[in-house]
Amino acid sequence: MIRYTLDTIDTKNCQSNLILLYGDEVAERQLPLSKKEIERVKQLRAKDKAFIVAFDRLPYHLYVVGFDSEKKSSESQETLRRQAAKLLTVLLSDEAYEMAITGVGTLTEEIVAFIEGLTLSDYSFDRFKSKEAEHLKSISIDTSFLNQNELDELTNLWNRIFWCREWVNLPVANLNAETFADEIACVAGQLEDVSCTVMNKKQIESLRMGGLLAVNKGSVDEPRFIIVEYKPQSASDRQPIVLVGKGITYDTGGLNIKPDDYMQEMKSDMAGAATMASVVFAAADNKLPVHLIALLPMTDNRPGFNAYAADDVLTMYDGTTVEVVNTDAEGRLILADAIAFAAKNYQPKVIIDSATLTGAAVRAISTFGIAAMEQNASNELSMLKIVGEQVYERIVEFPMWKEYDKLIESEVADIRNCGSIPQAGTITAGKFLAHFAKDVPFIHLDIAGVAFFSKSQHYYRYGASGYGIRLLYAYLQMQ
Ligand code: BES
Ligand code: ZN
Ligand code: ZN
Repeated sequence: MIRYTLDTIDTKNCQSNLILLYGDEVAERQLPLSKKEIERVKQLRAKDKAFIVAFDRLPYHLYVVGFDSEKKSSESQETLRRQAAKLLTVLLSDEAYEMAITGVGTLTEEIVAFIEGLTLSDYSFDRFKSKEAEHLKSISIDTSFLNQNELDELTNLWNRIFWCREWVNLPVANLNAETFADEIACVAGQLEDVSCTVMNKKQIESLRMGGLLAVNKGSVDEPRFIIVEYKPQSASDRQPIVLVGKGITYDTGGLNIKPDDYMQEMKSDMAGAATMASVVFAAADNKLPVHLIALLPMTDNRPGFNAYAADDVLTMYDGTTVEVVNTDAEGRLILADAIAFAAKNYQPKVIIDSATLTGAAVRAISTFGIAAMEQNASNELSMLKIVGEQVYERIVEFPMWKEYDKLIESEVADIRNCGSIPQAGTITAGKFLAHFAKDVPFIHLDIAGVAFFSKSQHYYRYGASGYGIRLLYAYLQMQ
């Protein structure tokens, strides 16, 4: 884990590796560079304001990272996150594990974005590696940019992203509904104003959560329904925001088993649950004045034993009957119970779910963002879109036209668990979920394209990303 400190940094006399961000035009004598080095920087800057150049300061290195501060703020911040990811490779090959960071012609949010990029790209899933992986050790940040509270808030958030990635990366052999619930209860127990209730199979049966129970029928492991509540004094009279996360610890598809290599990476099918838990924990770490409830239905989806089958008709928590058309559309079944539970028991301000729900979302927008839908929550979704641009975890809205309702009508039950046509799979999934929110403002986030990257993408290396945590945290900061 990287150690962060705040220090005054003397750029001209720095006794460590130094990273210098260079945004606006500044007097050249402000740069701790020789004439020749200034010439080199000018040359690079003339070609592209976003550049990286390293100079020797034996036994140390000086890295100048240029960027265009005149671009839209979200864009220059994202450039800096990406530049940081590029620089990380250089730092590791230079064995520069400890460094100071400052900037000229640079704003605080630009320094923060850069350090965020460096931090997020430094994570890798090392648990099963025999050889010790290389990581940064310490970063000393120029105290004129940040104070200790601001730094703590950021590092708390980043650490929750790492917590999320670690659990999503864990294979199903090392994790089931019970172990995940134990971990959540353990973390919740260490946090102020956070309580956690874990329902076991018997309790889930008495709640009549027909969706969660059906998906669990093929499993040797029991399901869990986890409730995490964060209710600080500062928000005790506020309507809660309910965060629902898809917690499929592994998705084989069930009896409609996934063919070929479609099953690979399905250990990440509980990313929604890990995301929502991380958001609540980060809010509690940083004492945000918001009232939050996370609902996490957890089970694996397998074809074993008395596994649920296509043609089954389920009775859900709210009494809705559902025709199972495909057992691989399992996420919406466990989410539906949780969403109905939220609508019935909490009078939420808004219900937001995060789920690796459809391959169709990946086909529609690839790995560049989140597919989102809303019902009675257009203002809230507008806010999410704005903060999504700022933190660069972006959202694109899909329509919820009434025409799509027809596609989930069933001959034998109230609705069916997947659309009657192959098109618009992401929307029919969203429509299915929205049915269970009734009149409560509802937002659905389909994170199938972004929860787990098969190829490293800038500051997201191979594996679980924690995508959506910075987005939802920034949204909560606006409450
Ligand atoms: N977990 C998958 C969706 C998924 C696919 C996530 C690829 C990440 C990457 C989900 O449970 C699923 O299997 N959905 C089916 C639904 C279909 C049967 C209606 C899909 O998208 O194919
Ligand atoms: Zn599935
Ligand atoms: Zn799934």
